[in-house]
Amino acid sequence: MLTLGCMTTTSTPVRASVQSTDARHATEWWRHAVIYQVYPRSFADGNGDGTGDLAGARARLPYLERLGVDAVWFTPWYVSPLADGGYDVADYRAIDPRFGTLEEAEAFIREALARGIRTIVDVVPNHVSEQHPWFRAALAARPGSPERARFWFHPGKGPGGAEMPTRWVSDFQGSTWTRTTDPDGTPGEWYLHLFSAEQPDLNWDHPDVRREHEEILRFWFDRGAAGIRIDSAALLFKDPALPEVPQRPGPGEHPHVDRDELHDVYRSWRAIADSYADPRVLVGEVWLPDVERFTRFLRPDEMHTAFNFDFMARPWDPADLRESIATTLAAHAPVGATPTWVLSNHDVTRPVTRYGRADSSFAFARKRFGVPTDLALGTRRARAAALLVAALPGALYVYQGDELGLPEVEDLPRGVIEDPMHFRSGGVDPGRDGCRVPIPWTRAGSSFGFGPDGAAAPWLPQPAAWRDLAVDAQEADPASMLRLYRDLLRLRRDLPELADGELTWLDDAPADVVAFRRGAGLTCLVNLGAAPVPLPDGEVLLASGPLTDDHTVPTDTAVWTRS
Ligand code: GLC
Repeated sequence: MLTLGCMTTTSTPVRASVQSTDARHATEWWRHAVIYQVYPRSFADGNGDGTGDLAGARARLPYLERLGVDAVWFTPWYVSPLADGGYDVADYRAIDPRFGTLEEAEAFIREALARGIRTIVDVVPNHVSEQHPWFRAALAARPGSPERARFWFHPGKGPGGAEMPTRWVSDFQGSTWTRTTDPDGTPGEWYLHLFSAEQPDLNWDHPDVRREHEEILRFWFDRGAAGIRIDSAALLFKDPALPEVPQRPGPGEHPHVDRDELHDVYRSWRAIADSYADPRVLVGEVWLPDVERFTRFLRPDEMHTAFNFDFMARPWDPADLRESIATTLAAHAPVGATPTWVLSNHDVTRPVTRYGRADSSFAFARKRFGVPTDLALGTRRARAAALLVAALPGALYVYQGDELGLPEVEDLPRGVIEDPMHFRSGGVDPGRDGCRVPIPWTRAGSSFGFGPDGAAAPWLPQPAAWRDLAVDAQEADPASMLRLYRDLLRLRRDLPELADGELTWLDDAPADVVAFRRGAGLTCLVNLGAAPVPLPDGEVLLASGPLTDDHTVPTDTAVWTRS
């Protein structure tokens, strides 16, 4: 993760027409897919130990099929001490026993596919767990040894090597170096970790590192994974001279972000993905403020798609959203890439909470406890936002629980928080556990159906009010967020305009709306202003909230019409 600014291409005309796909692309499933993100620890607990698992996820496949998703992306399910929720991997080829077994993962992939749902696995190439055999061997070996060469071990600066080799700042705050202790008990070399000390960074200049990851890719592709989500994809390479970070690094000048060497790795991964009869897809987690640098990762022989964090971080503001959409579409077109639309994920504040705040933009650096929030307002806007993103050309990501309108849980007792972002901020940043609270499935049951009734309590406590947000409560309520999501995903799949229709901005729309047409007659209009606006022509297919009368769209409401 990186601090995100808005994308920097400002010359893009906002009111351009953009051809989203062409005939050649029609068969490429990922270009128009709806991908549901499963955070396995919090999705469904099959064995009743308080932690979600594969048994639980398999049992919920009918739910995912009914929701209408094309694929599921699992955040890491590998053997891990869970120092960073599984992004600290100790064995990339085995499932953590808390989540299940490799056989169960294979069964999930198979059973999901039988329901038309593909599985994307998370690959974490930048770092491993401190428990990974390579790192344990490196710690046990001497400075300068081949074992240490796979990581960034380095002597310290100053007298006795007491100063860390650089002043690089961790993405989780604090320093990026930890000092080792030699076998005789004296202080030894330092090792690099862009995240927590439990996540040592690999040395991507080392051939073993490259070879090992190519094998990991094949391991999961051979087991039927339809693709990989690439964690922290712009961070892998480091300038071996270890310079300090310049004040304003130019393109390719940052010592550990977006280095040009990365592209060669993704080209080789693309070749592996393309070597399968049903080609696998690469989805990058690329946090970069410069849109041109971002889309370089999406050239035809590199990744297929990458998360659109620019859009996700924007506030609920019509000009802001229009600008982000237009910039995104314009930037993707020259490389023939498909944009993605993301409202949230396991790292960021839930949309119904974020959109209910005075400042509805997202930035890691600004996360604090106790920000005043109007959840009714946020929910109205999150419903409208769902219609907006589902109508845009490209792939759509839905983070588990957003389809239930779950809010961020902001009053977790401090003692249960596990996220290193919280601790490394000295307790100032609430961390990311508030969006990782286990899912409520039923009104009844000690954990609202997350696990069997009376089983171990969920690893994070669920708010009592979540009873009313449970899946079975929402299924029975036609006005619920879940029913809205089901309707919009069904329509998104059925309407040909949304698959390959050209996007045309509606020039005559009022300034406070985001409005565009897809294809000949499908219109999406979102009213972000204070006053109602006229309903577009045509039959109303879907509205995110009640329409005041037959002719206007109220504040913070979106509609799809078709003429
Ligand atoms: C990515 C993940 C995040 C994790 C970090 C380090 O940003 O989404 O959850 O903490 O990488 O692996």
